[in-house]
Amino acid sequence: MESDSIHGGNRRRKGRLIVIGCCALAVLLVVVVVPAVVLSSRTDTFKATFIEKCEKMTVENKSTDCVKVWSAFEQAYVGRDPCQVPKEAYNNLLSIAPPQPACNRMLFWSGTKEVAHQVAKGCYQTMEDSLLGSVLDGKTWCGKEGSSNTYTSGCPGWSECENNPVKSFWERASAEFAAIACGEATVLLNGASATPFRPSSIFASIEVKKFTSDRMTSLTVVLVTKDNAVANCEDKSLKNLQKELNPGINYICKMVTESELLTCRKDHDRPCRPCW
Ligand code: APR
Repeated sequence: MESDSIHGGNRRRKGRLIVIGCCALAVLLVVVVVPAVVLSSRTDTFKATFIEKCEKMTVENKSTDCVKVWSAFEQAYVGRDPCQVPKEAYNNLLSIAPPQPACNRMLFWSGTKEVAHQVAKGCYQTMEDSLLGSVLDGKTWCGKEGSSNTYTSGCPGWSECENNPVKSFWERASAEFAAIACGEATVLLNGASATPFRPSSIFASIEVKKFTSDRMTSLTVVLVTKDNAVANCEDKSLKNLQKELNPGINYICKMVTESELLTCRKDHDRPCRPCW
């Protein structure tokens, strides 16, 4: 009897120990292992997508090593406070994978992202058609101090801090894209905005300042309007653009409706015909 109850007590204690052990293991799994696996698979997915897209973009240019491009990219922000990544952090990346000039076919945009990319398709070259631009368009990334991971969530928003990895990349890469612009370039500005040439935009604050008359002959502003044009070519902000433009670059301004642009681009009989 007595021995039975002693054994029963031991069994109960053992049972309790097993339950506690299992709980501890479950807590360890939930708190440490699962986030680590999720995180590393997220980093791996981001990296794999980066390299895969890069390789698709460079099928004809075998001299680009996409693993090297990835290394130069992550070196800019990995292990850093995500509010302490200056534009210059991407210098090495841009020297390894610079945008290529497409004279007379370079298309800039501000407040007109969607229509610009529809108009550009197969005819013009936007920042997002360059190798790095196409790989990183629509993506979010950052690092963390003391970590070698790439994070794709929990990163600072565009205006949350000045030196965030995403904003710094687009500013640095856009400066490079504008610096190589040559021949007759075009910018699509938003005619439905009260300030089509918005001073804090990347186009106004970075790209226009990089245009050089050694390479660029003219800049055509296409003011894209819907049914309700708010601005026209006499707009005050456009006068500022004209003033800021290097005097050796010819300035032209035209108003075109969004539907005219899209219909023109869909004219399969005459692909890439000028639409302004
Ligand atoms: N908050 C969030 N996102 C922003 C913000 C902001 N305040 N400002 C810019 N962005 C991001 C968004 O992703 C947005 O779609 O930049 C994109 C473009 O912003 P726009 O104001 O429409 O244009 P702009 O700042 O002039 O940038 C476009 O930069 O990359 C070059 O060649 C490209 O000419 C183009 C120009």
